Amino acid sequence: MRILVTGGAGFIGSAVVRHLVRDVGARVLNLDKLTYAANLAAVENAVFSPNYAFVKADIADAEAVGRAIAEFRPDAIMNLAAETHVDRSIDGPLAFVQTNVMGTAALLHEATRYWRGLDPAARARFRFLQVSTDEVYGALGEEGAFTEASPYRPNSPYAASKAGADHLARAWFRTYGLPTLISNCSNNYGPWQFWEKLIPLMTIKAVRGEKLPVYGDGRQVRDWLYVEDHAEALHAILTRGTPGETYLVGGGEECRNLDVVSAICDLVDELEGVQQEGPRRRLISFVPDRPGHDFRYAIDCTRIERELGWKAGQRSFAEGLRRTVTWYLEHRGWWEDGMRERYDGGRLGVT
Ligand SMILES: NC(=O)c1ccc[n+]([C@@H]2O[C@H](COP(=O)([O-])OP(=O)(O)OC[C@H]3O[C@@H](n4cnc5c(N)ncnc54)[C@H](O)[C@@H]3O)[C@@H](O)[C@H]2O)c1
Repeated sequence: MRILVTGGAGFIGSAVVRHLVRDVGARVLNLDKLTYAANLAAVENAVFSPNYAFVKADIADAEAVGRAIAEFRPDAIMNLAAETHVDRSIDGPLAFVQTNVMGTAALLHEATRYWRGLDPAARARFRFLQVSTDEVYGALGEEGAFTEASPYRPNSPYAASKAGADHLARAWFRTYGLPTLISNCSNNYGPWQFWEKLIPLMTIKAVRGEKLPVYGDGRQVRDWLYVEDHAEALHAILTRGTPGETYLVGGGEECRNLDVVSAICDLVDELEGVQQEGPRRRLISFVPDRPGHDFRYAIDCTRIERELGWKAGQRSFAEGLRRTVTWYLEHRGWWEDGMRERYDGGRLGVT
């Protein structure tokens, strides 16, 4: 299978490319703009294969996208390219609309032009997977879980831009017949996640003995999925899912933000030794909440489990977190350089 993966230098995209090339034996073209969030090393240190190629391009650049598609001739496209950090979407929403909405539209448009020119058998086989987030569904209270039937109620500019992209993918299926599928997944964690996100940021700050800024009272709940499990789910949806359908993906591991940060403190204490001043939990400090902060997300995975036979791996969140924190301790050079050059860990997204 020839698969064009957009955003393949990002956190999840790189896990998808590694899985497709190493485990599935697919041929992959990684199309990525290489924004501040990209790490080509996450792919290229792991994938030495004639089945892998890279092109630097913006998904909103229809001409470049059209050229890449025409030359590579994919059997499928997986769209993971996106602006992804909620706090940055509060500071600069237009970049999110540009990439997530306009970029997805350009990609769908070029995919449709190419797909229409395929012979009937290839046209029937072709798939376009729009990779999205559970944040499009807004916030839950203490009870319940999102399902594929939940209404879209995005609260952040990030979530709204991803919701817009999902609607475009759906419309391209209904209007043009392009075989699109949509996946909405919960919070991912694991190696190579950019350190603006909760788990790497708190790990790095804990290692450095800096204050650990917890938004609001820290009681917000997220469902956590190990990134490699997500990569497997996306391959299952791409190859076994029904075009026009949506699949929710989650880890079944709900945890309050404060409990995540506390667990990271304990792991860093254990792996690095307790500091002279005392255990790292003392570094936790409560800061003003994120504007529009969703209280809780949870996922009902019944459909993907029943229809596609995918289930999150056996690894518990506690095990996955240990593995992740250990990985960040072993890859200090990467984030230390990056913190000097790309993002220093300061607060973002305060209106
Ligand atoms: N991280 C999560 O927990 C999570 C959960 C559910 C869904 N998602 C979705 O999964 C996808 C990947 O998320 P991630 O966490 O790996 O993101 P990321 O921020 O780590 O990586 C995004 C990648 O997209 C690239 N990119 C950005 N704008 C681009 C453009 N205009 N053209 C081409 N490439 C561009 C970046 O260079 C980067 O390599 C996103 O669509 C996101 O909405 C993420």
